[in-house]
Amino acid sequence: MTSPIPKPMLTSLQRLAWWGRWPVSVQAVMLQLAVAPMTWLIVWVMGSIGVPLSWWQVTVLQGAGAALFSRLVGLPVWWWWIQAGFWPLLLLALQWQLPVWVPALLFALILAIYGGGIGSRVPLFLTSRKTCSHLATVLPADAELRFLDVGAGLGGVLGYVQARRPGWHCEGIERAWLPWLIGKLRLWVGRSAAVWQHGDFNRLDWSNYDIVYAYLSPAPMAQIWRKVEAEMRPGSIFISNSFDIPGVTPDQVVETGDWNHARLLIWYR
Ligand SMILES: C[S@@+](CC[C@H](N)C(=O)[O-])C[C@H]1O[C@@H](n2cnc3c(N)ncnc32)[C@H](O)[C@@H]1O
Repeated sequence: MTSPIPKPMLTSLQRLAWWGRWPVSVQAVMLQLAVAPMTWLIVWVMGSIGVPLSWWQVTVLQGAGAALFSRLVGLPVWWWWIQAGFWPLLLLALQWQLPVWVPALLFALILAIYGGGIGSRVPLFLTSRKTCSHLATVLPADAELRFLDVGAGLGGVLGYVQARRPGWHCEGIERAWLPWLIGKLRLWVGRSAAVWQHGDFNRLDWSNYDIVYAYLSPAPMAQIWRKVEAEMRPGSIFISNSFDIPGVTPDQVVETGDWNHARLLIWYR
């Protein structure tokens, strides 16, 4: 997928070692702090020309600024939403005097959906049907192979591949609880033979699989490649949806023509 983020802005901050050392949550707070003086400057200018901003406008302004900065420096996509929504939601909670469990529940829900990717900086987004159909065309036709989707989301790719390669052992592993649960139900309802695991793909031995499929994010790809090199057997195949391995050219690239410019990057071991 082509990054929607202008590269120079993205790389200049990320190249700073001190910045990259901080956890994303701390980076998010620092971006909020960086935006705050600009917000207050706008508030002051508007006030002094006789157009005072309401608290709602101020929180939306601050949230939009922080979300924009988060996007520019390449924070994972869910942080854009957290940054944008934090202050307006806090104001809403204060004005409506919402019980404390409401924001706690919201937070728990976000954690259940995205919690799997917090450490590895991999959000939940899904391989499209179109990309799935391209994937099916590049998969070998052998009757019996072992396929693994690492970070399997809602089990869509897994169910798709299992349905097209019924003789294969297809397995998916997902760490976030809510997507895992939805995937479990989905595969059960579809009577799929695919094996659905909850857990961390880093703890799995990839030498047990002929094909490993990954749709993750740029952040873990160097580490993923070290695992591929250490564990995947000669003759096996590693496929990354859209995200390059830094410095390692794929053996084959399949353009899917999808709306998000998804590409299948394939390495034959
Ligand atoms: C971009 S989604 C891809 C979902 C699915 N493979 C697809 O293509 O539709 C990546 C998923 O990986 C999960 N994930 C991130 N790090 C993981 C880890 N270390 N172990 C297992 N799952 C992980 C995230 O929770 C997220 O659901």
